Amino acid sequence: MSARKIIIDTDPGQDDAVAILLALASPEEIDVLGISAVAGNVPLSLTAKNARIVCELAGKSDVKVFAGCERPMGRVLVTAEHVHGETGLNGPVLPDPEMPLQDMHGVDFIIETLRAHEAGTVTLCPLGPLTNIATAFEKAPDIIEKVQEIVLMGGAYFEVGNITPAAEFNIYVDPQAADIVFKSGVPIVVMPLDVTHKALVTKSRNDAFRALGTKAGVAVAEMTDFFERFDREKYGSEGAPLHDPCVTAYLINPDLFTGRHINVEIETQSELTMGMTVADWWGVTDRKPNALFIGDVDADGFFGLLTERLARL
Ligand code: RIB
Ligand code: CA
Repeated sequence: MSARKIIIDTDPGQDDAVAILLALASPEEIDVLGISAVAGNVPLSLTAKNARIVCELAGKSDVKVFAGCERPMGRVLVTAEHVHGETGLNGPVLPDPEMPLQDMHGVDFIIETLRAHEAGTVTLCPLGPLTNIATAFEKAPDIIEKVQEIVLMGGAYFEVGNITPAAEFNIYVDPQAADIVFKSGVPIVVMPLDVTHKALVTKSRNDAFRALGTKAGVAVAEMTDFFERFDREKYGSEGAPLHDPCVTAYLINPDLFTGRHINVEIETQSELTMGMTVADWWGVTDRKPNALFIGDVDADGFFGLLTERLARL
């Protein structure tokens, strides 16, 4: 089977970084057409820089990285330095990137790439707020029907919120964008906190990253050492939840994951529940299913795959 063509839309972020490394280490399954950065965990200038740092860490400085939107569609940008540190990649000491940022805007890259490929052959993999994706859909509605699938990290149902009592960060930062994407009609696979909170980097799993002894393996261990303190303090977790790598792992081995095809709608009116993913997990409405909402993962299988692929870098 030929590799799946994808665009990674991202706000690195340590977990984004691991997702990008996993993708770049898996060329048999994944063909990364390019990476578009979006404002989210940290401002756009840093997410665009961090995406290139990660590509160089993977030894893939030929990947094209684009800067996209620097603020949400209709709200003031909320960032997450309290989780990811002031650079967004706190933990390891990594060199500034030498590879260039592409001149084209990330939104135009998404539009031009979808227009240049046959319908149904490009998958979008948003790992941050959905601002770039929704802006591309608004600017060029003709591309919507050309998208093969969207596999995204965002939202929550049983786990509820990690940035407010009701909302997960990626959706909360740009709920208007999420509403556009979830109503677009594109087939969507959602990796919510319900599943990502089961992908925890326990000490033994982090020791396995470090034991690789490679630049990438040690950097991932150091990123996790930094990134895990938020979830340990808040949730008493056994380790950092690897949110975004669930997206890449799904592309490589979807059998690691289980979920339900349900209706998911986005709260965009009430400030109390702004950005909540209202997931009809129990089928109590007649609203049309629009997303495969993932609820569980084979965590040992996930970490086995991730560690084996990181060893390739
Ligand atoms: O809520 C977790 C999500 O928000 C992850 O994608 C993390 O990188 C941040 O963007
Ligand atoms: Ca992210």
